[in-house]
Amino acid sequence: MSIQNKNSGNKKTVKRKEPLISIENLEVKFINQDATIHAVNGVDINLDKGKVLTILGESGSGKSVTMRSILRLLPPKASLSGSIVLDGKNIIDMSQDQLSSMRGHEVSMIFQEPMVAFDPVYKVGSQIAETVVRHLGTSFNEGLARAKELFDLVQIPSAKSRLSAYPHELSGGMRQRAMIALALACSPKLLLADEPTTALDATVQIQILLLLRELQRELGMSIIFVTHDVGVATEIADELAVMYAGKIVEIGNVNNVIKKPAHPYTRGLLSSTVNSESKGKRLEVIGGSPPDMSKLFEGCAFSPRCNKVLEHCWGQKPTVKSLSINQRASCFNI
Ligand SMILES: Nc1ncnc2c1ncn2[C@@H]1O[C@H](COP(=O)(O)OP(=O)(O)O)[C@@H](O)[C@H]1O
Ligand SMILES: [Mg+2]
Repeated sequence: MSIQNKNSGNKKTVKRKEPLISIENLEVKFINQDATIHAVNGVDINLDKGKVLTILGESGSGKSVTMRSILRLLPPKASLSGSIVLDGKNIIDMSQDQLSSMRGHEVSMIFQEPMVAFDPVYKVGSQIAETVVRHLGTSFNEGLARAKELFDLVQIPSAKSRLSAYPHELSGGMRQRAMIALALACSPKLLLADEPTTALDATVQIQILLLLRELQRELGMSIIFVTHDVGVATEIADELAVMYAGKIVEIGNVNNVIKKPAHPYTRGLLSSTVNSESKGKRLEVIGGSPPDMSKLFEGCAFSPRCNKVLEHCWGQKPTVKSLSINQRASCFNI
């Protein structure tokens, strides 16, 4: 978040620039008959306009539930608390009508599997055109013209003929590009990307990451990008958040976090990844298994797997410590 100095009379007032999205103390529980799953346990995120935040964490750490909370796309049994303020409006308080006009318009989402976004029985071009008609009130032909523009933007070759393809007629990489086109149809301020490259071959994965980065800069939008892959996370991020057991345990400028990881979990994740520096060295693995999310932890949820665990880590929750203006972590040991 940036701070601006403003002169008003003799006094100098400091005006804070509002972040595009501000999430405070987000908690999500799934209440089932036999157990309650504590999927998200107090997440705080502030993201400025035009920035990319990557959320990195193991499977089951609450990444997708956090993303779905932003669009309020959770099943009715989910109980949600905290606040999610997008451009001054609290998404938690929105009516169904307000949510429908926000989704796909101000915020849109891309997934690992494009077939979630497309209906298999309609041509991709018509589906994008329909989205434009619904949100922007254009004619169908104007919607189709926009679809063609978007296909060019996401670099789909022979865009005109591919608009008439059914989703299954496109290759995996092209389908992913088409889904990005669909997500960008109404120029959202915020794009949520939930593991969008996980199912792709390594070379296609890099092409899609580069494309997203290029589009983000060109369109000035913000992105929250979720992944369990350290390499992918660092490739695209301005800021990196590391999630464990439904909490962000470390967050900061990507270079700071990569160069000086503070939380033992972040350090474990980074040292279990192959990179140019780790070549020839033995890779370390984080022992133990991810926690049972149906149990609430009195202390730090990472204690059972932590190589720096202290007596009080088991019974007390660590508070957030600022390591620099651009890096914070929750751990007693830093
Ligand atoms: N609809 C649901 N009902 C019950 N539990 C769920 C539901 N969706 C997710 N969960 C649970 O919430 C936790 C976090 O899930 P998720 O956000 O999907 O993890 P990630 O995306 O980090 O792999 C997991 O324990 C998962 O089993
Ligand atoms: Mg997920």
